[in-house]
Amino acid sequence: DQNKSLEGKTVLITAGPTYEALDPVRFIGNHSSGKMGFSLAEEAAKRGAKVILISGPTSLNIKNENIQLHRITSAKEMLEKVLQFYDAIDIGIASAAVADYAPKEVATEKIKKNEDIFTIELIKNPDILKTMGEKKIHQFLVGFALETQNEEENAKGKLLKKNLDMIVLNSLRDEGAGFKKDTNKIKIFTKTEKKEFDLKSKENVAKDILDCIEAQLLK
Ligand code: PMT
Repeated sequence: DQNKSLEGKTVLITAGPTYEALDPVRFIGNHSSGKMGFSLAEEAAKRGAKVILISGPTSLNIKNENIQLHRITSAKEMLEKVLQFYDAIDIGIASAAVADYAPKEVATEKIKKNEDIFTIELIKNPDILKTMGEKKIHQFLVGFALETQNEEENAKGKLLKKNLDMIVLNSLRDEGAGFKKDTNKIKIFTKTEKKEFDLKSKENVAKDILDCIEAQLLK
């Protein structure tokens, strides 16, 4: 008696952190565990969607065989993978915590600790979700916003700037929300609506997000 409400739809989800190499042993990264993105992938697959999950380094594994998992490391690799599938998807959800900058040069050998002050030059990474927004034809695009201040204003700004249909805001100021934890607390914005949710398990947050997407698709 499962609700196959996403049967026939292809959903692409980005998840996890990206790692930007400094040398063969070190990288710049962040605290994303991939839990939010993997929960979305499992829930979309349960609802009958074909799921393409593009994830940075995480210790998680998938359970549903309707999920095609592609593991990448850097933002550039994530963008390449996304573009490989983008034209054929119906829904795109960007839950990855993509590194905004990467080291300008990657040392081929391990960097030695000779200097007391060591400076790294960083160069801006491609914005994957913004690129998806620019190339949007029929795709329904959902972004995330991870904020620490002016949360709603920043989230709504990203919704417009990246040409999205929906944005999910989570704030590091909310206890139990954001990175690594098994729970999250979100607000969802479209251009005209706002919905606020209680603190829940990421599995249940994924259900709320997909319910909202389905409701918008029926409009
Ligand atoms: O993985 P977990 O431990 O479960 O944690 C989940 C999460 C906190 C990582 C997740 O819920 C979340 O908020 N993901 C987005 C984190 C983020 O990088 O937000 P942002 O506000 O910096 O980016 C805005 C949007 O643009 C996001 O959809 C992001 O995926 C996307 N983006 C950002 C930069 C970039 N270069 N490319 C992108 O696609």
